[in-house]
Amino acid sequence: MKKQIKTSTHLAPVAAVLVSCGDMDVSDIVTIAWCGTVNSEPPMLSISVRRSRYSYELIKKYGEFAVNLVEREQLEVLDGCGVVSGRSVDKFKKFGLTKQACGNIKAPAIAECPVSLECAVRHTVEMGTHVMFVAEIVGATAREDWTDGDKLRIPDGKLLAYVQNRYVETGKTVGTYGFTAQK
Ligand SMILES: Cc1cc2nc3c(=O)[nH]c(=O)nc-3n(C[C@H](O)[C@H](O)[C@H](O)COP(=O)(O)O)c2cc1C
Repeated sequence: MKKQIKTSTHLAPVAAVLVSCGDMDVSDIVTIAWCGTVNSEPPMLSISVRRSRYSYELIKKYGEFAVNLVEREQLEVLDGCGVVSGRSVDKFKKFGLTKQACGNIKAPAIAECPVSLECAVRHTVEMGTHVMFVAEIVGATAREDWTDGDKLRIPDGKLLAYVQNRYVETGKTVGTYGFTAQK
């Protein structure tokens, strides 16, 4: 038997990513957990950002940002970029990160992250507490060991996820898409 509980943002696990924005001179990095896939063709994702964030100002101004996937070893950077504001600190400098020029957007990607998705905002949706940027993924880069040919192949156990207020490791593969139909 289940009992009634308070409604909240209970969906889990969700991605925890680093979003870089601005341009190669004026930039910021923000930790985002309210992030999701919204369309396949063209590939699109959404991020929800509070209006009070410095990153919100930059994304609104430039209409572009990069979503950088984070690996297990980058846990401290993931949390750190989510507890200080780019208004008071340059997070690239503070966390020893390198700006990587993107081919399709002005925003820098984070060179140390294994995967970077270059995003162009197509819709801006005012929610309650957050503003949702729905963006097309117009370019993608990945480190060699996270690829299979020109496709992304995320290694088992490397990616971090977010469950309530906890960072969790993703585990080993226990099945693949459509495996039940092949029985
Ligand atoms: C794990 C984690 C997830 C977060 N997810 C979001 C989010 O989805 N949206 C948001 O607006 N802020 C989120 N935050 C808070 C921002 O990352 C944080 O306020 C950050 O300092 C804002 O930086 P900025 O002012 O440079 O943009 C999250 C923080 C953490 C630690």
